[in-house]
Amino acid sequence: MRNKYLIIGLVICNLLFPYVVFAASFEPVWGRDGMVAASVSPAAPAGQAILERGGNAVDAAIASAFMAAVAHPFSSGLGGGLFAVVHDAKSGENFALDARETAPAAATAEFYRENPETIRKGARSVGVPGFVQGLWELHQRFGSLPWAELIEPAIALAENGVSVTIWHHKIVNWAAPALEDFPETRRIQTINGVSPPLGWKLVQSDLAQSLRLIQEKGRQALAVGAIAKKIEQATDGAVTELDLARYEVKWREPIIGNYRGYQYVAMPPPSSGGVLIKEMLNVLQRYDLAALGHNSSEYIHLVASVGKLAFADRAQVLGDPDFYPVPIERLTSMAHADELAKRIRTDGQPQVKATLDTPPDDSGTTHISVLDSSGNAVAITQTINTLFGSKITVPGTGIALNNEMDDFSIDPTTPNAWEAVGADANAVKPGKRPLSSMTPMIVLKDDRAVMSMGGSMGTLIISSVLQTFLNRVEFDFDAQHAVMAPRFHHQWQPDTLSIEADIPLDVRTRLEELGHTLRERSMIGAVQLSLYDSESCYFWGGADGRRDSAAAGANIGEIQAVSLEQRCSVINSNRVKAVPE
Ligand code: DON
Repeated sequence: MRNKYLIIGLVICNLLFPYVVFAASFEPVWGRDGMVAASVSPAAPAGQAILERGGNAVDAAIASAFMAAVAHPFSSGLGGGLFAVVHDAKSGENFALDARETAPAAATAEFYRENPETIRKGARSVGVPGFVQGLWELHQRFGSLPWAELIEPAIALAENGVSVTIWHHKIVNWAAPALEDFPETRRIQTINGVSPPLGWKLVQSDLAQSLRLIQEKGRQALAVGAIAKKIEQATDGAVTELDLARYEVKWREPIIGNYRGYQYVAMPPPSSGGVLIKEMLNVLQRYDLAALGHNSSEYIHLVASVGKLAFADRAQVLGDPDFYPVPIERLTSMAHADELAKRIRTDGQPQVKATLDTPPDDSGTTHISVLDSSGNAVAITQTINTLFGSKITVPGTGIALNNEMDDFSIDPTTPNAWEAVGADANAVKPGKRPLSSMTPMIVLKDDRAVMSMGGSMGTLIISSVLQTFLNRVEFDFDAQHAVMAPRFHHQWQPDTLSIEADIPLDVRTRLEELGHTLRERSMIGAVQLSLYDSESCYFWGGADGRRDSAAAGANIGEIQAVSLEQRCSVINSNRVKAVPE
């Protein structure tokens, strides 16, 4: 397996040179003045360049987010949505931005119950996009460089062409048959229905024009006017101009928790990520995880059991808090952790029922993690849900529309593309946001942002982020090993324990003895981690080699041959300390 990653890493390095030479290497990437890690390789150097030009973490994240939308149009973009978690060094405050898609005004639960096949593909699968509004709002509140400057690299990439990588080729090859009924996506993203070859320059002129309009008009470019009209036409009126004009981003109270001297800041509902991370860490902190051993059968059994219980809560009571009274306080309380802890068994699995199965497809999501030298941190996860979302590209705009409606629950027994089930809490209602698993997260130590992280791959994101956090905090892995270590996942239903291929045979045998039905998966999530290490006074980046990811460290000015003390003193003087109001 290590060899497989090494080969993939080397090939990706060759393809991307001179972009970034460290993608999927075994060493973490270093930076003296900041770090950008992204699941789309060209997005990392785009953010790095902004940091080196004096932009802050939010500026860098916005540039990376637009770049990602162009470079992996199958994974995220203007027709999708996002969540962002921000730590602002100056105020010391933490923020959670919800730019999730919403159900259009005409959407009803009855329609999807009667026509369940429409929820994952085509016009009825599209939620009202929030991506541009989200990035605009982030820029309005925290940006320091001009908006136009942050979009320019993405426009250039769309005009000059994205160089097709192995991952890109593989994904489009996989998606191609499903694009046969979607002529505009097929026209732009394939060569007569066939995935473009490695190194092909994929030019997206319509997308470049849309980006130019966004560069000029900001959020208004999608809210009203020509693009909005075209979206209404392309969805046969399922998403109307009025839906787009009414779309609003929301600032929400982040989920904050403490774990062994670290404070984590994560996304609240309509993400399930923050609540589940807190539920799980509240239980896990009662155990000596390091003593169990990384990925030992005892460790996997314990973490998977906690995951199973937390995902059962997800299915029952999580949804958009503006439409359903999500019991956030109760779920994240220590009293609830006591209840969950009582149900964990060392001789078998915690009992919760039912089995469902459908194959998911990966890659409708992208994650970007940024830390800057002032101490700001941003984690953005952006999605169009599954590969090419609804599969519709809006003619004349190059915008691929999401299929985020599928993240709603049609009824309690029908799983979504991620095999997740849900209840009334996550039923379709006009204007409501579908429940998400995206888990952008920032970790603080002694009030300084030391990690920015998050991942992709539906429900598997939550397990992937949790395990990456534990890899760092409990097992002291460096950034690269923290994201590359083999992972596992349990989400209650289906009642299977997913594992990656590197989990050894003896561990598998023991897990089966404990009653787990194992399911080997080629990958479980893709996590991007930026971290700051106050001992070496360097920023470190971990880019997940399971995808075409990259990390790029910022270095402003000449590299000086200075002592550790001198470097740390410069780094500490760059940091903006929070001033209490
Ligand atoms: O919001 C969610 O949970 C899903 N729409 C995320 C989908 C995803 O991660 C696709 N992945 N690679």
